[in-house]
Amino acid sequence: MNVGIFDSGAGGLSVLKSILNENLFENIFYYGDTARVPYGVKDKETIIKFSLEALDFFKQFKLDMLIIACNTVSAYALKELRKKADFPVLGVIDAGVNATKNALCNLNDEILVLATKATINSKQYENRLKKEGFVNVKSLATGLFVPVVEEGIFNGKIVQSLFEYYFKDISKQPEAIILGCTHFPLLSDALKEYFGKNTKLIHSGDAISYELKDKFKLKRLNKKPKIEFYASSDVKALKETAKLWLK
Ligand code: DGL
Repeated sequence: MNVGIFDSGAGGLSVLKSILNENLFENIFYYGDTARVPYGVKDKETIIKFSLEALDFFKQFKLDMLIIACNTVSAYALKELRKKADFPVLGVIDAGVNATKNALCNLNDEILVLATKATINSKQYENRLKKEGFVNVKSLATGLFVPVVEEGIFNGKIVQSLFEYYFKDISKQPEAIILGCTHFPLLSDALKEYFGKNTKLIHSGDAISYELKDKFKLKRLNKKPKIEFYASSDVKALKETAKLWLK
């Protein structure tokens, strides 16, 4: 089976990592729009336009499925992508909401959604969680985590001061935090340390991998997949990041 993984840049490697753990595909084509990242500060029309251009890029491969690793694209462009694609297009938001449902047992549980400004403004996580009956959902745009993680900083003073800045009004320890951005799983250890071990972290990559097995009935293969990396700028840098993040 051939799968495409699309992200605004290198961040989607966190999703690729989870997918690789499950070994579900023969061929993986990863494309990051590194020339135009970040998407999380752009408007809906631009996000849709760039996403449809990415879909055109994927046409050269015979895809059986396209996974949208980027939360921002999943929030805005899924409908348009699905209209144009002749294979299933999976986003990470539904998977993240399902994973949250599976992780929590009480609809009163406090959920904190962390994502880019665009994803938060779309209210996709918030509305879907509320539809599931969750009543305590708080959303926070924490866009500065993105460049910090891109810089390879996953803990220490800078991360701590960002946590203090963004989380100053969070008085209660959340039961779950949705890592609603490709970069945020790399801050998992720091977040666990800050909020405590009891807070469950919802990882988009793990959530989508679960859906692939559960809903799409994909089975673990014996052979490792062949991965090809593509980028709209500096594919060498993307491959370097892949070496670090996929370790
Ligand atoms: N990949 C984006 C996301 O998951 C984060 C980086 C960006 O803003 O493009 O929302």
